[in-house]
Amino acid sequence: MLSYQHIFHAGNHADLLKHLTLISVLLKLKQKSKPFTLIDTHAGAGEYDLSASKAQLKSESSTGIRLLDELFLSQSDSTLLQTYGDGFYSNLSSGNYCGSAGWMQQFLREQDQAHFCELHPNVYPELCDFVYKPNAHCYEVDGFKQLIALVPPLAKRGIVLIDPPYEQAVEYQMVLDTTEQSLKRWSTGCYLIWYPLLNTDNVSKTQAGIRMMNGFNTLSELPSVSNMANFQWCHNPASEAQGMYGSGIIAINLPWGCDSEITEALLLIQQSKITQAAFSLDWIKQPT
Ligand SMILES: C[S@@+](CC[C@H](N)C(=O)[O-])C[C@H]1O[C@@H](n2cnc3c(N)ncnc32)[C@H](O)[C@@H]1O
Repeated sequence: MLSYQHIFHAGNHADLLKHLTLISVLLKLKQKSKPFTLIDTHAGAGEYDLSASKAQLKSESSTGIRLLDELFLSQSDSTLLQTYGDGFYSNLSSGNYCGSAGWMQQFLREQDQAHFCELHPNVYPELCDFVYKPNAHCYEVDGFKQLIALVPPLAKRGIVLIDPPYEQAVEYQMVLDTTEQSLKRWSTGCYLIWYPLLNTDNVSKTQAGIRMMNGFNTLSELPSVSNMANFQWCHNPASEAQGMYGSGIIAINLPWGCDSEITEALLLIQQSKITQAAFSLDWIKQPT
């Protein structure tokens, strides 16, 4: 059932979008000393060895983080790109790329709490070995169910990252239903929901993806949703080949200023001509 392993994709164009968005919100939360709660429903291993044969099989990092050299990141005008570069290159010296749980653990202070869910029996032990902070908790359970069990948290500021593999069409509906339930219990959290942009003959997946996006449109009408953004990073906009040509993030209750910070960072990459990728931001619900 669980065939997806993130090590084959670590550091690719989807990770670039996802982790930049995540770091932007983490930077914002860290500006205040008030505690925050982080929930990663599909955490993966925490970090990935890019020299491992699985990571090198298709060298997907060449579509993402390998595009960005150290100089480009450190000399950029974007604090977000600089932070990403600092974290990326300090970890890379040990051969590893930081995953979502890695970034969250890096930003976690004593007063905060983090919760990482991972269901894969081989990946879960790796996650446990990686996590060392006492206020970061790992669970070998279904992340959708665990999210509902964890909300509302004591610290009302925070992030929910929902990053499933979308191997089965049913996951699209689970993403939508779980987000709706969680929002009703914890309305002040910022929700980051990653999804793939696919060319596929799999009609049920295509339809499930459309239903999910329509569902988010409806969800945006909830009073607990103060804003809803749809960021997309099309790595290969012209591609007609089967597979993933880009990805998106639905960001709900995005803190003030993150939209422009994420936009600035991704436009700098787009304009640098190191990639054909195209960035877009559409508001499903404008901030008021
Ligand atoms: C896309 S990867 C996560 C990558 C990670 N968030 C990152 O950015 O570094 C999805 C992960 O979810 C795990 N997974 C799949 N179904 C799950 C479920 N129902 N609950 C928790 N984890 C699940 C997979 O084993 C895989 O490690």
